Amino acid sequence: MNQHKPDDTPAQSPQRQRELPDPDEGVRPLPWFLTMFLGAMAMWGAFYIYSTPSGEESSYGDQRTTASLRPPAVAVNAAQKADGKQIYGAKCAACHQATGLGIPGVFPPLAGSEWVVGDEKILTSIMLLGVNGEMEVKGTVYKGAMPAWKSLSDGDLAAVMSYIRSDWGNKSAEIEPGSVAAQREATKSRTEPYKGGQELKSGV
Ligand code: HEC
Repeated sequence: MNQHKPDDTPAQSPQRQRELPDPDEGVRPLPWFLTMFLGAMAMWGAFYIYSTPSGEESSYGDQRTTASLRPPAVAVNAAQKADGKQIYGAKCAACHQATGLGIPGVFPPLAGSEWVVGDEKILTSIMLLGVNGEMEVKGTVYKGAMPAWKSLSDGDLAAVMSYIRSDWGNKSAEIEPGSVAAQREATKSRTEPYKGGQELKSGV
């Protein structure tokens, strides 16, 4: 009857005493194939880093060079070639109107104007320094003030003049930025606007 006595101290129970101790992981080395595999990976990594050129262009990622980032020559020229019609719309149309007809008695027309289609030097001077005085355009005398456009670049001035010389039925040759630069140089000592048609005709 003694065996069936309920055990109050578990350690003393014969069943417990028969059991093996709980298993324990202990220190076990990695399986040899895993060790070899990791070693091989590390060696391959080291070799890869060593053998990949670092100073040169990577074959991955952004492969653009500084040369390829520079805009191509054509684009540079296109950007430099200003849009005369656009400049006209922004700077001139308020007075001379999009139609190039001006406002009778106030702003002279550019369409069919002898000043626009005539001598390109005189036209360039009008643009660079402006006019403040009487000038006759297509038989009508205007006495207003045409602002100076010195602040525009040679390219912009050439473009806007070429535009007004070729729209609304005007058919005169384009003006090159180089000729604008030359006229700018020739008139550089002058600051005040021309005093009207007479002065413009007498040489600018
Ligand atoms: C503030 C109004 C005004 C603006 C803006 C203006 N002009 Fe004029 N423009 C005049 C006036 C006014 C005259 C006549 C000047 C005079 O009577 O002395 C004139 C005269 C001219 C003339 C000579 C006369 C003719 O009709 O051919 C040309 C060319 C000309 N302008 C071109 C331009 C161009 C190109 C622009 C834009 C870059 C421009 N103007 C912007 C008011 C303006």
